[in-house]
Amino acid sequence: MLDNEKKSPFQPEMPVSPEKFEGREEIIEKNLPFIYQSLQGHPTHFFIKGKRGMGKTSLADYFKNMAEIKYKMLTVHVFNDGVHNMDSLIQQIVERLLNEINRETWAEKILKTFKKHVKSVEFFSTKIEFHPDDETMKFLKDNFPFFLEEIIDKINHEKEGLFIIIDDINGLSETPEFANWYKSFADTISTGIIELPLVMLLTTYPENAQKLYNFNPSFNRLFKHIEVKGLRYFEVEDFFNKIFRHMGMNVEKEAMDLMVRFSSGLPNMMQEIGDGVFWSNNDNTISKDDALKGIIRSGEEIGVKYLQTALDKSIRSENYLNIFRALGNDFKEHDLTVEYTFRKKDFANKLTDKENKAFSKFLSRAKELKIIEYAEGYKSGVYTFTNNLYPIYFLIQYLEYENNLNKVN
Ligand SMILES: Nc1ncnc2c1ncn2[C@@H]1O[C@H](COP(=O)(O)OP(=O)(O)O)[C@@H](O)[C@H]1O
Ligand SMILES: [Mg+2]
Repeated sequence: MLDNEKKSPFQPEMPVSPEKFEGREEIIEKNLPFIYQSLQGHPTHFFIKGKRGMGKTSLADYFKNMAEIKYKMLTVHVFNDGVHNMDSLIQQIVERLLNEINRETWAEKILKTFKKHVKSVEFFSTKIEFHPDDETMKFLKDNFPFFLEEIIDKINHEKEGLFIIIDDINGLSETPEFANWYKSFADTISTGIIELPLVMLLTTYPENAQKLYNFNPSFNRLFKHIEVKGLRYFEVEDFFNKIFRHMGMNVEKEAMDLMVRFSSGLPNMMQEIGDGVFWSNNDNTISKDDALKGIIRSGEEIGVKYLQTALDKSIRSENYLNIFRALGNDFKEHDLTVEYTFRKKDFANKLTDKENKAFSKFLSRAKELKIIEYAEGYKSGVYTFTNNLYPIYFLIQYLEYENNLNKVN
């Protein structure tokens, strides 16, 4: 096969496809029955919380896939990052719903009624657009449960229920509007006046969930809470094994250990590293050397994708960058089988006076930006990177910097 015909089985940029989905068995076992229960007309609200890249969207997608295939539900996935108000949320949900229906063979007879009643719905050949006027908007917001009831009623012969994901409600946690609206929406559909076979699934970062709770303390009571945390060692190992074996490749033990440890249980890192190793390797065996090359390659990717945004102006001063490079250089000598930790005083004679002076401020800023943290199980003053790939990124930066200096001289 030509190199440019190689295709990576890893998915560092997307939610994982269900057949490659790894782990989370307990969460799935515990929560699938609630989806089934919803079909009897008792709506369920799920709230998935987790850090960026931890696998919220992937888990939501996994449930969605089950809802479609196993429970014959109509599903919509609304991506809500950046949306800050209720109007755009409602607009998006309705538009997505209509488009999902539009994909079905039985769409015509249902959409016909909308064509008659809602003039704000525009029908193009492949896509439906929904531009409600203020009045329609207000009506929908106030009567959302009844709007959903109507939809469910219409699709009743074809689908068992409705499954709606509102992904990344981050923007909606800035004001009380959403928390209050959602509370009253959920209350209305739990009274038993209407029985909706409905599943709602929300996702966000833990700190935003807290904000919503602060706005409306009853908000939390509405949900089945799901916290997504890091994957376990054997799960990450399993993931690599399955994918590489499927391609007829063998992973040497040392290589596996490196890949798993550098993933630090983070699904996004696991995908990045898998991808890096895939592209670095060119035979049927992943050796330790391939793994290292791949990890370095993914360290670069991660720097660009995750770290450069964190490296905002406040930490891009030349002093700080030199400290980062010094850390990267220090990391080079480090035994990869143990966690990398550092103390300020280790650097005293590796930095200039100016840089040494800046060190304390550097530490607190880097901590604020969540690039470093206190190392667990040590006395204070010992730090570690929050992600094992960050020091690799700084090491690469250091090597490039040295390289450029050499060129100049
Ligand atoms: N259970 C999983 N198994 C395999 N890969 C996963 C899993 N969960 C997430 N990923 C991968 O991790 C990355 C981040 O996942 P994503 O679901 O987008 O996280 P989040 O929504 O929390 O930011 C993606 O590349 C995705 O493919
Ligand atoms: Mg996501």
